[in-house]
Amino acid sequence: MLEVSTSEALREQLVDWRHSSEHIALVPTMGNLHDGHLSLVSLAREHAERVVVSIFVNPTQFGETDDFDQYPRTLERDKRRLKRVKADLLFVPDVETMYPFGIDNATSVTVPVITAEFCGVFRPGHFDGVTSVVSRLFNIVQPDVAIFGQKDFQQQLVIRRLVDDLRLPLQIVSGATQREADGLALSSRNQYLSDEERAVAPTLYSVLQGIGNELQAGKRNYTELEQQAMDVLSDAGFDPEYVGIRRAENLQLPDRDNDEIVILAAVRLGAARLIDNIIVTI
Ligand code: PAJ
Repeated sequence: MLEVSTSEALREQLVDWRHSSEHIALVPTMGNLHDGHLSLVSLAREHAERVVVSIFVNPTQFGETDDFDQYPRTLERDKRRLKRVKADLLFVPDVETMYPFGIDNATSVTVPVITAEFCGVFRPGHFDGVTSVVSRLFNIVQPDVAIFGQKDFQQQLVIRRLVDDLRLPLQIVSGATQREADGLALSSRNQYLSDEERAVAPTLYSVLQGIGNELQAGKRNYTELEQQAMDVLSDAGFDPEYVGIRRAENLQLPDRDNDEIVILAAVRLGAARLIDNIIVTI
């Protein structure tokens, strides 16, 4: 596996691959790679001859009270894992490479409306940070396809909108959420949980599944279902931020049958903020 940290070195390598007509897939990450990330690398391999993985803990998507300083950085272990799944190139830029004019002077990219709810409310500025860094990664790598996890459902939708709206010449592919055996979605933030909290954490997924079952049984009282789920989560020991039942296509309120619905939630549990979602067809 090649490893580069500057955009110049990266371009040199990519030119060679493009000359031999090889397609390039990008998997953007913040490192501390788990099997969820690695599943995206395998998926990338199905879409392109060459797979580039980026690791960059992006400061602009963390709020002042967020966990930027504590965010786990495990580069050597990440490299071993990436070699095992046969990534072709690891791009590990520093802040100067991603934000050459400094963070305070950085051009910011904003996707409106779908960023206004859910995580956008509880993490002000977060999605601007994501779209600003992902735009840079797309421009530096110029991939044919980029892979994002369904785990961060709103993020994946925001990036699809960014690509469609700016007519960026790449395809976005979503990878299924990888889970622990008890249902907890894999996340770098799970390691902030104490043993007691870890035992409670899978309830988040089962509450989402409970709503899914109600919808499939014909219930359509969305606000009530959301509120009930918030109550169940509170009783279980979470501090819930939101539970939403929306159209998967655009996060609008459901207004028809035969539609894909996303049930998405964010909770705080001890020092961790956990998000999860499931999709059901009603
Ligand atoms: P990070 O949290 O490292 O996630 C990188 C990618 O892995 C994202 O597309 C995320 O949705 C996906 N992912 C995380 N947990 C997953 C799981 N359990 N199953 C499948 N995929 C999972 O998301 C980010 O980084 C950043 O916001 C980034 C897009 C890199 C921009 O900085």
